[in-house]
Parts: sequence; C-alpha cells; structure tokens
Amino acid sequence: MPGTLVVGSQWGDEGKGKVIDVLCAKSHLVVRYQGGPNAGHTLVVDGKKTVLHLIPSGILHNHIQCLIANGVVVDPFTIHQEIQGLKNNGYLMDNRQLRISDHCTMILPYHRALDAAREEAKGKLKIGTTGKGVGPAYEDRAARKALVFKDLFSRNLKEKIEIAIAEKNVLLKHYGKAEQNATEIYNQLQEIIPQLEPFRVADTSLLIHEAQEAKKNILFEGAQGTMLDILHGTYPYVTSSNTIAGSCFTGSGIGPKSVDKVIAITKAYATRVGSGPFPTELEDETGEFLQKEGNEFGSTTGRARRCGWLDLVALRYSYRVNGVSETAMMKLDCLSKLENIGICTSYRYKGIELKDFPSDLEILENLEPVYEYLPGWQEDIGGVKRFSDLPENCKRYIQRIEEETATPVRFVSVGPGREQSFNKTKSRS
Ligand code: GDP
Ligand code: IMO
Ligand code: MG
Repeated sequence: MPGTLVVGSQWGDEGKGKVIDVLCAKSHLVVRYQGGPNAGHTLVVDGKKTVLHLIPSGILHNHIQCLIANGVVVDPFTIHQEIQGLKNNGYLMDNRQLRISDHCTMILPYHRALDAAREEAKGKLKIGTTGKGVGPAYEDRAARKALVFKDLFSRNLKEKIEIAIAEKNVLLKHYGKAEQNATEIYNQLQEIIPQLEPFRVADTSLLIHEAQEAKKNILFEGAQGTMLDILHGTYPYVTSSNTIAGSCFTGSGIGPKSVDKVIAITKAYATRVGSGPFPTELEDETGEFLQKEGNEFGSTTGRARRCGWLDLVALRYSYRVNGVSETAMMKLDCLSKLENIGICTSYRYKGIELKDFPSDLEILENLEPVYEYLPGWQEDIGGVKRFSDLPENCKRYIQRIEEETATPVRFVSVGPGREQSFNKTKSRS
C-alpha cells in the first residue's frame, strides 16, 4: 500500500507544504488529517506564492484529489475564503478536487473570541497561539459538544449554535468580553453554506480506502511540528492536536499499515513561533541573520519566528516518536553565507551531559546546549540540482545530520521554488 506520511520534525514551518507540492508529481491523493487554520503551508510555483491553511498542499495540481479528514478542525469562513482565493487564481476549477469530511469539527467565531480572551488572561504565561480558535474547538470535540461540518447543512443549525453559544457567552462574560450573537453567526453562515455544500462528503476514510484498493499513491500531510504535539511536545506550550505520525491514522480513519514511508521535514536550523522552551534559540545577530535569510515570519500570523541552531537532541527525540524513515532537509540555502554553523549535539544541565530530550519543562528552560561547529560553504546553492554539485562542506553538514539522526536524507531543498529541490540518491558522493 503506497502511503507516504509527511510530518514536521521541529516546531512547525519546516517546509511541509513545499515537500507535498513536489511529491504530488508522482501521487494521486493528498490528505490533511489534523490541525486547522493555525497551519500556514507555503507553495512557490513559477515565482508565485500561495499560502494554504486548511486545504491540502496538492491543490495546485489538477490531477490531485485533496481530502480534509475527520481530525481537522475547519473554520467555514476561512475555508470559504481559501476556496475563493484559489478559484480567483485559476485553481480548483472542478469542485470534485476537494472533499471535506462530514465529521470535521467546526471552528465558529466564539472559538476565536475565547482563544483570544484566554491568551489575554494568561498575561506573561500566554502560549502565543495563532488566535484561530483551534484550542477551544478541539476542547468542544473532546467534550462531545462540537458542531461538525454536516451540521452546517442541518435544519437545526440555528438551534445547535444557540445551545453551543449559551455556554461560551458565560465564559466570555467571565473574561470581560462581549457576548456573541447566535442569529448573527447563523446569518453569516447562510451566505457561505451553499458554496461549501459541493465539497461535502460523508466519509473521507472510505475514499482513502478506495484509493488504497486501486493502488494509488497517497500523501498524508501533517500540520504543525512534533514539538507542538499535545501529548509529546513541550506541554503546555503546544497546540491542541496530536501532531506526530501516529495522529495520521486516527485523524484519517485508516490502519497503521497504510503508510510505508514517514518523511521528517527538517529545517537546516531551528525556529519556533509563540512562547515555550527553545534550547538553541539565538537572541543575537546570528539569530537575526537566520530570521532574515530564512524570511522567518509566520505564514499565518506574520509574527517573527524565533531562530536558532539545529537541535539534534530534540531531533533525535522527534525521529523516535515519529518512527521516521527518511529526512527532507529544507532551507540549506539560508545557511550559505555563514562561516561556521552550529549544531547542538547534547545538553548540559547542572554539570551533567544529557543526550536525551528531557520531558521536564524546568530542565528544558534552564539547560545549556552543547554545540559542535561545522565549516560553512559561503557559496550560493539556490541553483544546484544534484547532491554531487553541492559544496563539500554542505555535503558534510548533511552527512553529519544523517549520522546524528541515524536516518538518510533523501530530499534536499535549496530554495522556496518548486524546482529548487532534488533527491539525494542512496550513494553518498
Ligand atoms: P510549513 O508550515 O511546514 O509548510 O512551512 P511554511 O510554509 O510555514 O514555512 C516555510 C517557508 O520557507 C515558506 O516561506 C517556504 O516558501 C520557504 N521554503 C521552503 N523550503 C525552502 C528552502 O529550501 N529554502 C528557502 N529559502 N525557503 C524555503
Ligand atoms: P504549520 O503547519 C508553527 C504554534 C503557535 C503556538 C502554539 C499553539 O504551518 O507548521 P494554536 O493556535 O495551535 O493553539 O497555537 O502552536 N503553532 C504553529 N507554529 N507552525 C504551525 O503550523 C503552527 N500551528 C500552531 O504559534 O505557539
Ligand atoms: Mg507554516
């Protein structure tokens, strides 16, 4: 069963969208299975940038069928906007290209309001969420009171919103915020529901199963990154879904044998948006350099991303919890001007060397990274098409990461464009 899973191995924004877009050349189906409009996946085709939040990153290829499976939290207003944006640019001309599961959890305006109110109330302890209402929507799902996509088409929609909003208004009042109005939300929804109906499908897991039976190549597109996983990330500075590989099976409704390749999307350095521990963060001119070279500003919120050296302790942990089979190494070009490049190979805490990622937040916030410095290459690599044409020091950098993660790098990315990547063959030149 040819199933390939693409998963963010760090704190998100590794370049998952780009890898999916490139892998689409040999695939048939792309499935988003968790997360929601907190994601921002960027595709650059012929110099033109498209940022997707909910729609799978296969949508720019006419031959690809895109599915949004049960595990995703969908904001109907965001997806409506995204659909219109794509159509205005000549994409998604056939509505059958996109299918949204009836069982996706809905994000409605009161979720966003609650997300913002909670963050404000937390003050210095805020998580730094994207403010898209993702956390409150997943809370509703777990509490078994969420509205789901099929409710948009139900005759009782208004009543369902009224019931949901009654409790939310108590909470909003508690935070000193304006109450929300069910009729207003209902009326706003009426304007977009007819345009969303064509994308409706009862069971995306059945469509995946049929594609598997027909031996089609399926890509599963993760959102966020491993260190933001609700159970395995740097809790509580995480998102509200499981982001690790295992989440693909629950979110899509398929068995664990459906995937034969787990590709870790790994940026050549590290970034994080929002609060929380970030051991290799560089709060100096090198951090600023990485931010500038990598254009590290959020695709969803525009916030500046915190930047630092590649953290191999975190990466080894990430590869373990995901069961990674290969690496896609992203944004190597952003390191090109550096004389020396740091990689963190272990941590030191109270004089003790740590090789494994600590689960204790207290330790994470107070440890010291141990760096090894590798020589840079100071050569523009944006036009390189083969591994053998990379500067020797760049090859050495890749090989050092392969050693530390005990995992081969197969995909190498040297720029944002679709054409700026190549396969590193098995033989190491
Ligand atoms: P995602 O959320 O994992 O899909 O990643 P984002 O789209 O949020 O952020 C990745 C950013 O890096 C986007 O602006 C991409 O266009 C860009 N990008 C992806 N791969 C490369 C690369 O190899 N080099 C450079 N310079 N930019 C890249
Ligand atoms: P992609 O798919 C980077 C971060 C937020 C915040 C925390 C919780 O583009 O890689 P949330 O809104 O989910 O409740 O915020 O998670 N976060 C991301 N950071 N990339 C993402 O997605 C993210 N999605 C959420 O910045 O720290
Ligand atoms: Mg992103």
